[in-house]
Amino acid sequence: SSPRQQEPDYTGWHVLISAGGTREPLDPVRFLGNRSSGKQGFALAARAAARGALVKVVSANVSLPVPEGVEVIPVGTALEMQAAVEAQVGWADLVIMAAAVADFRPAAYAGSKIKKTHDPADPDAAPVIELVRNPDILAGLVQARGPAPRPVIVGFAAETGDADHSVLRLGEEKLARKGCDLLVVNEVGVDKTFGSDENTVHILRKVGAPVAAGPAGKDVIADAILDAARPLMG
Ligand code: CTP
Ligand code: CA
Repeated sequence: SSPRQQEPDYTGWHVLISAGGTREPLDPVRFLGNRSSGKQGFALAARAAARGALVKVVSANVSLPVPEGVEVIPVGTALEMQAAVEAQVGWADLVIMAAAVADFRPAAYAGSKIKKTHDPADPDAAPVIELVRNPDILAGLVQARGPAPRPVIVGFAAETGDADHSVLRLGEEKLARKGCDLLVVNEVGVDKTFGSDENTVHILRKVGAPVAAGPAGKDVIADAILDAARPLMG
């Protein structure tokens, strides 16, 4: 389906979106990454711009055309994304954290390529890679906002569910934990969501019942998310 005709209901609003997936370098040729394509974040940017918003996208490792009228701020790692988002947040009325941010990064960066035989005493040994936690950018935004009404903050949650927890249940818990205004939950698996042009989501709200959207194109999902955020912006 194609995006509907739309009132320019975002005219004058400033929308900051993170998109794509961070890459955490291990050495000059390797990184820890994830399967995010950036398609949902870029669809949000395109639809927000089409609805009249001024839009900036902090974009991590995305190879997609830049939507008309959207400013892209390229980053690589979670720490770079944090710095870029924090530099722009004062400008924003609405922040949508659509990016897949790595929870961990290698504790150390090897300045030269890690060789297969890294320990001459044990030529067949495999290295153990120590990880450290990355900052939670979304949680930091919520904390820094405090009781202020601005900006409205939207998080995403990619969940696979597990034996004891449905995707929706995990989403409700994450919304409460993160303290954002909306949480967009999608069910992921290797054949679901990532890189796909279609998506199915539940938009969980701090106030009000969840809104289901899809299966539909990521532009239609983007409009549903913007529809849910708009009334929170006054
Ligand atoms: N996020 C973030 N900074 C991180 C990790 C996640 O800002 N270091 C944001 C994502 O952009 C997303 C939301 O937090 O909007 C939820 O990400 P998710 O990975 O689902 O949540 P986590 O709290 O990392 O929980 P877990 O990975 O254990 O499910
Ligand atoms: Ca995570």
